[in-house]
Amino acid sequence: NKPIVVDRWDRPLRDLRISVIDQCNFRCVYCMPAEIFGPHFRFLQEDELLTMDEMVLVAETFAELGVEKIRITGGEPLLRKDLPLLVERLANIPGIGDIALTTNGVHLVKMANRLKDAGLGRVNVSLDAIEDEIFKKMNGVGVGVQPVLKGIAAAKEAGLLVKVNMVVKKGWNDSQVVPMAKHFKAEGIPLRFIEFMDVGTSNGWNLSQVMTKKEIYEQIQQWHPLEPIERAYFGEVASRYRYVGTNIEVGFISSVTQSFCSSCTRARVSADGVLYTCLFAANGTSLKTLLRQGAGKKALKQLVMETWTNRTDRYSDERALQANQERKKIEMSYIGG
Ligand code: GTP
Ligand code: 5AD
Ligand code: SF4
Ligand code: SF4
Repeated sequence: NKPIVVDRWDRPLRDLRISVIDQCNFRCVYCMPAEIFGPHFRFLQEDELLTMDEMVLVAETFAELGVEKIRITGGEPLLRKDLPLLVERLANIPGIGDIALTTNGVHLVKMANRLKDAGLGRVNVSLDAIEDEIFKKMNGVGVGVQPVLKGIAAAKEAGLLVKVNMVVKKGWNDSQVVPMAKHFKAEGIPLRFIEFMDVGTSNGWNLSQVMTKKEIYEQIQQWHPLEPIERAYFGEVASRYRYVGTNIEVGFISSVTQSFCSSCTRARVSADGVLYTCLFAANGTSLKTLLRQGAGKKALKQLVMETWTNRTDRYSDERALQANQERKKIEMSYIGG
């Protein structure tokens, strides 16, 4: 398919990640540390969030610009009310072939069936440890692994494709790399190891806390040999492997040590309707402002096209292992990863 818009580095617009809420029931240390996201933290108010109709209009606009894939994120997207209805409406947009969700999994037990019926295809569930005590510390709210494992099981039973995401932070959950690999190999569920990234300015990121793809790979390889496999689609963020002699996959998302900006086709819209062209952006373009001035799809489309055409972001390529701690950056829980 010939792209409708490309940016300054010739990257087409293909995926939309839409954050539906900035709140979360977890306080993961690398994302929403409890000291910062405490009782006084000001989350977006109801009237600041895009409405259902606004989200659908935004998605339709992106679809007309060549987006085929939508990922719903948060915060924790399952906390947004009427989510199944949103999924249903997104699934009816012509050209949208893939609807996925990134979640911490806790609410899947009660929602997986409804989401599947609404047209959701896939879920990526975050889980950072298989040992209760370690997971409780990682998520900052003392939830054990069972609710998440039950959520994963519910998603599979509902017929959703499931992958698991594990962020590895040295000194916190690096002991869990091989135990997690063993668990999800036995389950036949693809597990992706994610390098701890310097998103936002709240998570106290430091290169010394990043367990690199190479380090993780070596630990797994010592337990069970791996072989590389083809990427599933252009611009996939994970590099994929399988356990030799099986069809079971593992992936590595190595934004710190092997960046992938040259194939970045992702636009992000925050829960309050701001378009960001990079996960590490400092500023975005408000679509909500335009919408609430009464603009229709045509004007919205024009603004998105202009923004994408002028895009030059390649933060991870430029970072070159040195996080820019001074620079203003949006938070992960606000933009959804
Ligand atoms: P699929 O490949 O569609 O299954 O999803 P995904 O891996 O793109 O999405 P997911 O929400 O599961 O994200 C996994 C990890 O990749 C998270 O830590 C994201 O923050 C990270 N990630 C996704 N897209 C980008 C990107 O464009 N840049 C960077 N640096 N990280 C990204
Ligand atoms: N670095 C890497 N991944 C992160 N995530 C959240 N914060 C970070 C970070 N600082 C992950 C979550 C989830 C996905 C959306 O992003 O664990 O799997
Ligand atoms: Fe919540 Fe996901 Fe952030 Fe954890 S990583 S605090 S589950 S949004
Ligand atoms: Fe895309 Fe920005 Fe991530 Fe690079 S750092 S892959 S440009 S979102």
